[in-house]
Amino acid sequence: MQAQVVVIGSLNMDLVARAPRLPRAGETLAGESFVTLPGGKGANQAVAAARLGARVAMVGCIGDDAHGQQLRDGLLAEGIECSALTRIERCSSGTALIVVDDSSQNAIVIVAGANAELSPQRVSDCEGLLEAAQVVICQLEVPTETVAHALERGRALGKTVILNPAPASEALPAHWYPWIDYLIPNESEAALLSGLPVDSLESALAAAEHLRKAGAAKVILTLGARGALFVDADGHRHFPAPSVRAVDTTAAGDTFVGAFAAALSRGCSEARAIRFGQSAAALSVTRAGAQPSIPYLAEVEASEMGSDA
Ligand code: RIB
Repeated sequence: MQAQVVVIGSLNMDLVARAPRLPRAGETLAGESFVTLPGGKGANQAVAAARLGARVAMVGCIGDDAHGQQLRDGLLAEGIECSALTRIERCSSGTALIVVDDSSQNAIVIVAGANAELSPQRVSDCEGLLEAAQVVICQLEVPTETVAHALERGRALGKTVILNPAPASEALPAHWYPWIDYLIPNESEAALLSGLPVDSLESALAAAEHLRKAGAAKVILTLGARGALFVDADGHRHFPAPSVRAVDTTAAGDTFVGAFAAALSRGCSEARAIRFGQSAAALSVTRAGAQPSIPYLAEVEASEMGSDA
């Protein structure tokens, strides 16, 4: 199997508590439920692309603990190629501590664990996967130098390079931008990367334009319930979001990115891939958890029937 989509990124075990609201500093809150679920932005995007019709390979690191085995088994069960998933001895797997409140918002603390061991060399070791693929996807939960190497190799090999700059904590290095075909931030990431406020469609457009002028070929700024804004050298277009009742927004952005990449790899137009990503993400927010919330192709197609998506 040659993967069409290669995801280079993180795998986390998500420890998820539901609480009426997010705790304040120093506060102890009584939660309502607790579950342990597979997650991590990289793995979530790989699962989304696989469930939504692409052949996918995952490049990443897991610990030598029970969580690592569960994370690998979960990807294998989705048909994801895991030959470039490395088990790191005497290391814990990535962990995310997540609180989801009654209004479906979340707060997340991640501990990198084995994700910190994904070196540029490990990406070089599986360059054959990149050569055979159409689309390369990166996020920011693995070492910065590894993301830079993956973007640079993806560009050099002529692949469609997607960067989901999440989680963003500082501006991207300027020399990264020309390596990126699609930069896909959310509102807070776009604000941080551009240094501009993002609190309306107008300000989102200004931030997206700023990031495109920095050198990314195309920017898709995801705006949650307000839809998505696409910007390229020819102009911009707003894509309204399907209206749904959200219960948990965890992994909505990951679902969009994976679905968008899967649609591109299946030959869909850019506009169609964006709408498909929005349909998939809309379904994901109606369900709890990261990977358990990601829909399958038939579900997304059924949800789109009757709409003009
Ligand atoms: O984007 C959602 C993901 O962020 C969670 O699955 C968690 O692992 C964190 O990485």
